[in-house]
Amino acid sequence: MVMNLPTAKGYKKIGKYLIDQKLTFLDFWEEQIIIHENQDNKDLIKQNGFLMYQIITNSIIDGFSDQDIKRLAYKVAQERADANINIGEFVYNVNLGRSIIIKYINLSGFAQAELQQAIDLINKQFDLFCYYAVSRYTEIKDRKLQEKNIFITQTHKDRLAILGQMSSSFVHEFRNPLTSVMGFIKLLKNQHPDMPYLDVISKELDQLKFRITQFLHTSKMNTVFESKNEDITINVLLEEVIDFLYPSIVDGNIQVSSNIDENIKIHGDRNELKQVILNLMMNAVDAVCEEGNQRRISIDTEVEVDQIAIRISNNGSIINPDTLEIIFEPFYTTKKLGTGIGLFVCKNIIEKHNGTINCVSNESLTTFEITLPIKKY
Ligand SMILES: Nc1ncnc2c1ncn2[C@@H]1O[C@H](COP(=O)(O)OP(=O)(O)OP(=O)(O)O)[C@@H](O)[C@H]1O
Ligand SMILES: [Mg+2]
Repeated sequence: MVMNLPTAKGYKKIGKYLIDQKLTFLDFWEEQIIIHENQDNKDLIKQNGFLMYQIITNSIIDGFSDQDIKRLAYKVAQERADANINIGEFVYNVNLGRSIIIKYINLSGFAQAELQQAIDLINKQFDLFCYYAVSRYTEIKDRKLQEKNIFITQTHKDRLAILGQMSSSFVHEFRNPLTSVMGFIKLLKNQHPDMPYLDVISKELDQLKFRITQFLHTSKMNTVFESKNEDITINVLLEEVIDFLYPSIVDGNIQVSSNIDENIKIHGDRNELKQVILNLMMNAVDAVCEEGNQRRISIDTEVEVDQIAIRISNNGSIINPDTLEIIFEPFYTTKKLGTGIGLFVCKNIIEKHNGTINCVSNESLTTFEITLPIKKY
């Protein structure tokens, strides 16, 4: 069997034929390509089409170069990404060029074997051209998107930080006059024990002070400005909190029992730890007040080698296991007037004191347990 293999000469003739047909081809291609009048640079598209045509004809005459294709593809990808133009039209225009070239040489009258070899080479180059251009275009776009996201996130964070600082210093300034008003109310009460409304005013101001302190703990301003470590006797601290909450305990008809070790000392910030116990106790009060049955809260301590466990339990409704996972997250609340930062503040303060806090809840009891290192002598 005699195979009709193309001669090098015959094959190169196709390249020469394409060079001769260049203007006719490019005119025909230009008439059909998709161009966005407002976005596309028509001259640039024509110039790129011209360059691609040149690469194709050169490859048939002088041999194929992957580098030439890649360089042109990367150039086009960059131009389209910079101009923010879709890559879809580009792919359409490139494939249009491919079909026109193949149609032309099919009609040229060259032998089938010579044609086939040229067509394979042309197809290969167009495939590579699209592959390189689309991959590079996607890469550039992804990178731009990432840079944009980083910028947006950073700007957002900066704004939040400024807002946080502003509100923290605002609240901080607010606290000094509040403390002095509270002092004067106390004086008034001493001098005029029968004056009406003073108790109500005191209670409201206490509540306001608690909220402000809570906010400062959340914003961490307190740790920077006021953190003051000292020796604290646990039973004294717990009794102070129970006294403070006495009106709510009586109001809610709550039975409070305690079993607290005497004279156990820890080292830490008194106000911060008081805030923790206050939060846990207030949550317990809220929880039992939701239920109709006998309301009970118990406070127990247990000394374990070099640490003390403080447990605050109540017989309110159960916290289900899914909820238990998120109650220490900021802003989680199920209360109408809650802010959801109480337990978040507790966790931060306890961890700052090298302790732990966790919660166990079942049908009969919900218990919050804190452990803290004991001060040794
Ligand atoms: N002892 C408890 N029993 C049942 N649920 C509780 C108890 N303590 C906390 N929770 C649940 O965890 C949520 C978060 O408590 P957290 O103290 O952080 O915020 P809050 O009490 O809702 O608001 P606030 O900021 O005023 O403290 C509560 O809304 C409640 O659903
Ligand atoms: Mg709370």
